[in-house]
Amino acid sequence: MEIYTRCTNRHEPTTHKFYVKMHGGRGFLWCVEESTPCIYNIPAIKMEESLAMKQFTNFSFHMYTEIVFGKGTQTQVADLVKKHGGQKVLLVYGGGSIKKSGLHGAVTKSLNEGGVPFIEMGGVQPNPLRSLVDKGYKLALAEGVDFMLGVGGGSSIDTAKGIALALANGGDYWQFYNGTPAEKMAPVGVIHTIAAAGSETSRSSVLVDDATRQKKGFMWAPCRPVFAIMNPELTYTVPKYQTGAGAADVMAHTVSRYFTSAASHLGDEYAEGTMRTVVKYGPVAVERPDDYEARAELMLAGSFSHNDVTGIGRDGARGGEHGLESQLSGYYDTAHGAGLSVVMPAWLQYIADNGDADQVARVARFGAKVFGADPDFADVKATADEGLVRFRAWLRSIGMPLTLRELGVPKSDLEAVVGRCMDNWGGGPVPGFMPLGEDAVRTIFASVVE
Ligand SMILES: [Fe+2]
Repeated sequence: MEIYTRCTNRHEPTTHKFYVKMHGGRGFLWCVEESTPCIYNIPAIKMEESLAMKQFTNFSFHMYTEIVFGKGTQTQVADLVKKHGGQKVLLVYGGGSIKKSGLHGAVTKSLNEGGVPFIEMGGVQPNPLRSLVDKGYKLALAEGVDFMLGVGGGSSIDTAKGIALALANGGDYWQFYNGTPAEKMAPVGVIHTIAAAGSETSRSSVLVDDATRQKKGFMWAPCRPVFAIMNPELTYTVPKYQTGAGAADVMAHTVSRYFTSAASHLGDEYAEGTMRTVVKYGPVAVERPDDYEARAELMLAGSFSHNDVTGIGRDGARGGEHGLESQLSGYYDTAHGAGLSVVMPAWLQYIADNGDADQVARVARFGAKVFGADPDFADVKATADEGLVRFRAWLRSIGMPLTLRELGVPKSDLEAVVGRCMDNWGGGPVPGFMPLGEDAVRTIFASVVE
């Protein structure tokens, strides 16, 4: 194991390479340049060992979505529908953006020229509604549709998945959003236009119940799309704020898988590399919307953050940030990624302040490996805190809020937010890397009220 940190053998702090050596049951950092042990000992070993936690768990992973990536790939949509067995398509999309961008025209042209019959349903909104799935299902049933094509962001894709579940299960799809595992879904193909939700290759779908405004979601194996067309150029028109919110969401999906009680080395390396990619290219995409490289890196990171590549070989309850955020965007109709931007650093700070040694060390490793915080092996908590300072600064650099007030949630709603959050988890605790009771949830939200 190699570690780079400050060498205390010199009067002036210098970054050197160290090896960890065990001696007398204690770990020492052995400075390569000075050929002598450094003063750091137990905290260093605690930090690295607790984070490696090599417990490669059994897992089943089948990411069967065919990814067709690159410029102009949307013209292949008719061939892909036919290849995956589609006879008649329901094209599901949101507002007018895909019409303005010309994507709608390109898709319908491809379907017409390819001899694929289709009908359309637009009107999907961010934080997609259960009622629109009901409407789409009736339409699909009446028209003999057997293939969903979701075009747009995660909301269009998740709506298409909801309708596909209804079609394959006699209309009874809401049960799958309430804990019943789904065993079959009609085929869904997607052309996605924003790097964010990751639903284009993942098992998930999230809908908002119109009546309660609660968000409900799932992760079921049969619910990955059969194909995903990814053209980074299609994301050039995503406004700066939505680009930043998307990057925050992508970050959160890997954060969620990274903060687990057990992890594989490979899984950690995948996760850290994915997060560093988002940290590097998120601000570039916000600054230069037509930077192909930045858009491409974010687009792929968005999918691989959510399709469980970064979760391989892990075990135990994970994350927790989505459980805290879901009642913000669901209730206030704010951008999901913006809510995560408020919640994530506050949640991790709570863990750094109140977690056990392993949990604090995990936050410290996140700070060191993802944000380049100087690892202070004598004071792991300080590394965790420094990492979170950098995390907040990065979120600011992509134009994201850090407080509930900025998000538009008034201070007077604090208790209501806490109450809804606990209600959503049956009174709690909110599950995750560190299970959170009501007092913890209140502390987290109160720390970011304004
Ligand atoms: Fe998310």
